[in-house]
Amino acid sequence: MSLFDADRQRMDWLVVELNRHSTLYHQKNAPEITDYAYDKLYRELEDLEARRPDLRRPESPTQRVGGDVVAELPPFVHEVPMLSLSNAFRKEAPEWGGVWEELLEWEAGKPARPGGLRKLLGDDAPPVIRYVVEPKLDGLAMELIYEDGLFVRGGTRGDGVTGEEVSHNLRTIRNLPLKLENAPPGRMSVRGEVLYDLPGFEKMNTAREAAGEKRFENPRNAAAGTMRQLDPKIAGGRPLMFFAHSAGVVPPGVKSHWELLEHFAAWGFSVNPLNRRCDGIQEVIAAISELEQRRSSLDYEIDGAVVKVDSLEEQEILGFVTRSPRWAVAFKYPPPQVQTALRSVLFSVGRTGIVTPVAQLEPVRVGGVTVSNATLHNEYQMRHVHGLREGDRVIVQRAGDVIPEVAGVVEQPGREERPYITFPATCPVCGAALDREQSDDKKRSELYFYFCSNRLGCPAQLSGAILHFGSRLCMEIDGLGDKLVDQLVSQGLVRRPSDLYRLTQEQLANLERMGKQSAVNLLKAIDTSRGRTLDRVLMALGVRHVGESTARDLARHFGTMDVLMTADVVALSAVSGIGPAVSASVAEFFAHPENLAEIAHLREVGVGFVPLPQKATGGALTGKTLVLTGTLPTLSREAAKAKIEAAGGKVSGSVSKKTDFVVAGAEAGSKLDKAQELGVAIVDEGGLLALLGEA
Ligand code: IVH
Repeated sequence: MSLFDADRQRMDWLVVELNRHSTLYHQKNAPEITDYAYDKLYRELEDLEARRPDLRRPESPTQRVGGDVVAELPPFVHEVPMLSLSNAFRKEAPEWGGVWEELLEWEAGKPARPGGLRKLLGDDAPPVIRYVVEPKLDGLAMELIYEDGLFVRGGTRGDGVTGEEVSHNLRTIRNLPLKLENAPPGRMSVRGEVLYDLPGFEKMNTAREAAGEKRFENPRNAAAGTMRQLDPKIAGGRPLMFFAHSAGVVPPGVKSHWELLEHFAAWGFSVNPLNRRCDGIQEVIAAISELEQRRSSLDYEIDGAVVKVDSLEEQEILGFVTRSPRWAVAFKYPPPQVQTALRSVLFSVGRTGIVTPVAQLEPVRVGGVTVSNATLHNEYQMRHVHGLREGDRVIVQRAGDVIPEVAGVVEQPGREERPYITFPATCPVCGAALDREQSDDKKRSELYFYFCSNRLGCPAQLSGAILHFGSRLCMEIDGLGDKLVDQLVSQGLVRRPSDLYRLTQEQLANLERMGKQSAVNLLKAIDTSRGRTLDRVLMALGVRHVGESTARDLARHFGTMDVLMTADVVALSAVSGIGPAVSASVAEFFAHPENLAEIAHLREVGVGFVPLPQKATGGALTGKTLVLTGTLPTLSREAAKAKIEAAGGKVSGSVSKKTDFVVAGAEAGSKLDKAQELGVAIVDEGGLLALLGEA
């Protein structure tokens, strides 16, 4: 046997063995070896693959991580549309009163009306209809395509017909099989839900908070955001999982949904352990109730129960109405609420200086997440809606989309005698006066927001302000991440944005996780940012209400920082598109001596406040729409976009007949195909520069 055969044998064995242990660990909760032993085998495989890349197998566990960053998410077309589940019958039949009546009606139909599974099935209806009840998983729907048992690609549901391909991120999900066990040959579509593991999600949020990053508001949106990342390393580091629940095309020979689920499990998918096969509607009712009871103790979010007719033959007869099958319905549970004791109210100061009352609670589990603080939103809610008093018991709620909130107060005897909780008059962090700002929502004139007035001097605003200053749309300082900013701030190296420009290599070299090369790169990035245009500096300074387009309008209108700084509210309001709230906040920003001092500091350290080119009405690309695709040899996407816009052109994300030019670079994807199909003009970077008159 040759040496190469030995490599191959060992590598094949390692792949099979590592995948087996991974399943035992992630799906069966029954590891056979220690993490240490697993890591050793994994390392051995990595080394072998590095030496023999030709022998690397697509289902190798190493292929889950370290995949390439993708340039964009190509469209993912579902050969069989991904439908939705109707829960509309719930609204259609309010006269039936309750959930169970509605369920009975779903099966039996309503007197003197068409519909009802039994009527639709007619003579084919069995005496007892068999169902499967499953949790309605509150995650992100996905379709996975396997060919001859190997995972080839997968994508999001999108509009049901076309989603986005996210294979690079799907591969990183530990319990998603890259190779199926004993699956039939050919092509297979497996559908299911990507979800966050809740304890892992909490841990991740705690870590983010400690690092000064924003918490993810809820697991579902976070899952959607994670799966859309271009760099698979991000998803690879996060606690995501996949449950299979349906198929695009059911493999031949399968007779029932339950059988399909059994096949899924045998092929290596995680199938939800709470799925129940039920004979008749009474068992369905019991299963839905059981699920609802277990809901709050699950490690993932569910927002209801799905009831499916089990027999595929019956499913076939029942068919579909518009976009959902008649053979399935979803019950949505109400958002979970619990009562707990209020310990105190913390007034937290956000990055923009907004002061938010946050209820500190006796920890309590709500919908699978332990909650120990819940937002009270604002002074009005706290003081007037709830009339919150010391020692109150509160009702806490966590709806799918929102962070935990106080939904009400429990009335108790003697409550009126306890004192109200008061809103502070000064910033709880730095002691500066609070500014009061009326909500611009006309219908809520009673609503005021409170802000710490010490924009660049309040420590609560500092880390956030520095991070924001260096962010991509602002000064775009690559490498200035949250952990680094925290170190710079906590060690007193950076007290305000302009301090960044005084950092030295020696200072940086003393920081944790900062190699010499990173220090050099960071200093270079800081230096480059001195040349950012005025609009970006304005955004970077964090003037309230000034986002990307407002900053651009201001910079275009006033031309230079000096002119802008002296503009009063009247002059500011004259800028088209700028309303009273923006002009007030800009004027106020420049009235603050601290802010003026910081602008002077920035000037001292060489920040240029570079004026924007005036709006190109007669620009070379005025009225033209361009689409960028692929990687251009020298221009970044942002740079190309900026050039096109400066020349009066518009950059669009998708190709249509209205597109004037598609600018294609290396590895251009489907947009290029579409352009060719529609006969849209295609240019490369040179062609773009020629259009701009820069060639
Ligand atoms: S079956 C046509 N089963 O709910 C029905 N869907 O409204 C095919 N969902 O985004 C889907 N849990 O991804 C099915 N146990 C479950 C489900 C489930 C959640 C999602 C599904 C889709 C939505 C349909």
